[in-house]
Amino acid sequence: MIRVGIVGATGYTALELIKILLRHPDVEITQLTSRDPDCPSLESVHPGLRQQLDVNFSLLDIASFASQVDCAFCCLPHAASAAIISKLLDKGIKVVDFSADYRLNDVGTFEQWYQVEHPDPERIGQVPYGIPELFRDRIKSAELVANPGCFPSSALLPLAPLIQQNIIEPSPIIVDSKTGVSGAGRKPNLKFHFPECNESVAAYAIGTHRHMPEIDQIIARFTGNKITTIFTPHVVAMNRGILSTIYVKPKEGITAEVLQHELAKFYATEPFVRITQQPPTTKDVANTNFCDISVLPNRDLVVIVSALDNLIKGASGAAVQNFNLMFGLTESAGLL
Ligand SMILES: NC(=O)c1ccc[n+]([C@@H]2O[C@H](COP(=O)([O-])OP(=O)(O)OC[C@H]3O[C@@H](n4cnc5c(N)ncnc54)[C@H](OP(=O)(O)O)[C@@H]3O)[C@@H](O)[C@H]2O)c1
Repeated sequence: MIRVGIVGATGYTALELIKILLRHPDVEITQLTSRDPDCPSLESVHPGLRQQLDVNFSLLDIASFASQVDCAFCCLPHAASAAIISKLLDKGIKVVDFSADYRLNDVGTFEQWYQVEHPDPERIGQVPYGIPELFRDRIKSAELVANPGCFPSSALLPLAPLIQQNIIEPSPIIVDSKTGVSGAGRKPNLKFHFPECNESVAAYAIGTHRHMPEIDQIIARFTGNKITTIFTPHVVAMNRGILSTIYVKPKEGITAEVLQHELAKFYATEPFVRITQQPPTTKDVANTNFCDISVLPNRDLVVIVSALDNLIKGASGAAVQNFNLMFGLTESAGLL
């Protein structure tokens, strides 16, 4: 059995991660950490997990934690994450990081968008980006994987193969995304208080969202050129799910049917990406590790619709795919 610890285990992504790992045939969860000095019981924080796992929360003590795990999933906010991860890696522990700390290629871009000094700048640019369908080979040999952002996953899974095959123009690419409220995490925030957000849809961070450079950076790896996508997120009064409506211009002579066909070919052997005739909905993929994608014509442009569960394919499910690859396990273990 592979011994696993979860750092920041009181949050939403950690809850989904625990549920997945409890079904995993090769995993034993040995450590759950929180900053709460009272070290609460698992049941008091995540009541749905009662009688499922006999591990309570503890404060993170690097030496003790490292002696009890082979792999850490770090479910912390950015900056807090890298400060801890560098110490875990020094102890020989493999790590999957949920935060944005190692996703961007250079320290300057990270510090510009996140407005914080990077705690582990030497590793920036060396960590594989954790979309397994795109970067599987690098992930397999990694000690640390940067799990992708939830919006970028929903945009890059459809866009990367089309850009790579040079069948859509690199500009304009317009990504219009809707997310459920759990995307903001468990920490209370007035904006996400029920009467504030219920019965409402709101655009936010227009032109300033931190997932924009992440999307651009990965697309640029396939074009070889710097590109700038337009990305606008919206928060919708639902618990979970991301729906991205993506507008692209096909290359001369390429139709929506061709794009759909090429995506179907690219993902034919992938268990977690489904190309659908009808535009998918967040309900189709809720509580699963699937990303569903459909391509439809719309005058001179083509509209791609992709749907995934932000907490699973957008976070914990992808993290377990990455973990499985890092430990040479079946990639879908725990996930189907
Ligand atoms: N929510 C999503 O849909 C989603 C999707 C993809 C990626 N992510 C990323 O995944 C990470 C976790 O997200 P989440 O939604 O699970 O967040 P969350 O529900 O707010 O949980 C974060 C956890 O981190 C701990 N924590 C908070 N601030 C900390 C600090 N300064 N130092 C150490 N521990 C701290 C908290 O535990 P204690 O207070 O008990 O210590 C909390 O349980 C974030 O980096 C997020 O950006 C989230």
